[in-house]
Amino acid sequence: MDNVIELINKVQDVFTTVGGGKESLDLPQIITVGSQSSGKSSVLENIVQRDFLPRGSGIVTRRPLVLQLVTLANDAPDYAEFLHVPQRKFYDFDQVRQEIEQDTARIAGDQKSISRQPIHLKIYSKHVLNLTLIDLPGLTKIPIGDQPHDIEKQIRKLVLDYISKPNSIILAVTPANSDLANSDSLKLARQVDPEGKRTIGVVTKLDLMDAGTNALDILTGRVFPLKLGFVGLVNRSQQDILTNKPMADALKSEERFFQRHPAYRTIASRCGTAYLSKQLNNILIAHIREKLPELRSRLSTLIGQAQQELSQYGDPTFSGKVHRGSLILKLLTMFATEFVASIDGTSATIST
Ligand code: GDP
Ligand code: NA
Ligand code: MG
Repeated sequence: MDNVIELINKVQDVFTTVGGGKESLDLPQIITVGSQSSGKSSVLENIVQRDFLPRGSGIVTRRPLVLQLVTLANDAPDYAEFLHVPQRKFYDFDQVRQEIEQDTARIAGDQKSISRQPIHLKIYSKHVLNLTLIDLPGLTKIPIGDQPHDIEKQIRKLVLDYISKPNSIILAVTPANSDLANSDSLKLARQVDPEGKRTIGVVTKLDLMDAGTNALDILTGRVFPLKLGFVGLVNRSQQDILTNKPMADALKSEERFFQRHPAYRTIASRCGTAYLSKQLNNILIAHIREKLPELRSRLSTLIGQAQQELSQYGDPTFSGKVHRGSLILKLLTMFATEFVASIDGTSATIST
């Protein structure tokens, strides 16, 4: 994971440096979609490897959460910032969760209403990619509490607005203890991604399936074909949340669950949170590989320009410019050879 983070962040640096704001390596946004309480927020927390989201039975996520991850270059402790709380750094992630809860109530009320107005949160850490993840309210059918009668339509519209962006990866979450063949998230994903090219099927709550049943057919793609496949997960249960089960322990129990399960044992290496993260990394690297020719030609143009400029500064009065010019040239050449080569190297070893 750390290698991929380093690599992708370097490429993003190159784009920023040479692009002058024009070019950018926009990584895909990762968006969770699913029915209410299917485990969307839990999945995002697992990907980020941090406890910071309100989770629970019932309608908890009532506004979109746009979570921007920002890589810290140094060893400073992780922290978070909210757009609506300027100039405050949150080092305590329990307070991050409280702030999300409070601001949700401030905008969407303290009942069951949802709001389209997103919460913007940034998490700074040296363990994350510069990447945007989006948590959305769950798909629901029947209005409850103070929800308007057309709540189903409103939420579908909200979700569709986010997942319609071609540059988004849809995590279509379905709980295993529901009718998988009738999954709302998969149906909605199919509307905007009919070929299933940017949808990952995520099956949660495999630990809660009726005894004697399993989701092997779904997980192996025999029921619902998706190019990016299905990943089965066991997130923390409500009981685990109440007892503050540490994330590391939860990951270990998840791994054990798949390794020991009679139906999933044989596909255990393609199940679980670690595998989902790996798959997401592969998707990001494939995305960069696609963008690589563009980056390469941009770099060679810039190197050519810099060389030409340099050759014109024969006059010593231009020494300042020469210095700057040769510095840029050196930088670019370094980027071009070292970083582009490292991307090539990586893409050759991963399977996509
Ligand atoms: P969301 O409404 O889709 O965001 O779902 P949450 O992440 O808030 O989870 C809803 C509830 O389901 C919480 O109580 C979670 O603890 C529980 N949950 C989520 N995933 C799993 C899972 O894989 N297994 C079990 N046992 N509980 C889960
Ligand atoms: Na929930
Ligand atoms: Mg949620």
